[in-house]
Amino acid sequence: MISSERISKRVHQLGREISEVYADIETPLVLVAILKGATVFAADLLRSLSIPAELEFVRAASYGAGTSSAGRVKIAHMVEGALAGRHVLLVEDIVDSGRTADTILKRFRRLKPASVRLAALLDRPARREIRVQIDFTGFVIPDRFVIGYGLDYAGLYRELPGIYALS
Ligand code: IMP
Ligand code: MG
Repeated sequence: MISSERISKRVHQLGREISEVYADIETPLVLVAILKGATVFAADLLRSLSIPAELEFVRAASYGAGTSSAGRVKIAHMVEGALAGRHVLLVEDIVDSGRTADTILKRFRRLKPASVRLAALLDRPARREIRVQIDFTGFVIPDRFVIGYGLDYAGLYRELPGIYALS
């Protein structure tokens, strides 16, 4: 669906765009990758920034298995440092129903950060259940389950350099 070359180009564009938006902040940006799927995107995005940034992780667990985040999401691992007064950029692999990003963004906002934004490599609007604002989007994709570049099916295929639709 999306070649590694296209991904790389787009991630570098996003890195430049993000660096411009945060050019004047006084503390390092806090990049928060959602485990595990967003780690590959976050690693590339981090290296395409031209501003200082820290790297943190959150782990979301959704009740139920399969190919969607069936209903409820809980935060299984929270960021280690304090977010109060910090500029926070949540990094997600794909926004599907919107529940994962929405749950984490709500939790972050309660911690009184200076700002919170969302970067998503992929936006699949067809299955959205909750409205979430994506501040930086890599690609909008059609209603197909995708794998590769960190995204998995049953724990597999994260190592693929491009993004593929699962058939
Ligand atoms: P949401 O909470 O429904 O927006 O789903 C977001 C999470 O579900 C992402 O962080 C992914 O881990 C997972 N997910 C959703 N769609 C896909 C897909 O097509 N491939 C792999 N993982 C997916
Ligand atoms: Mg995920």
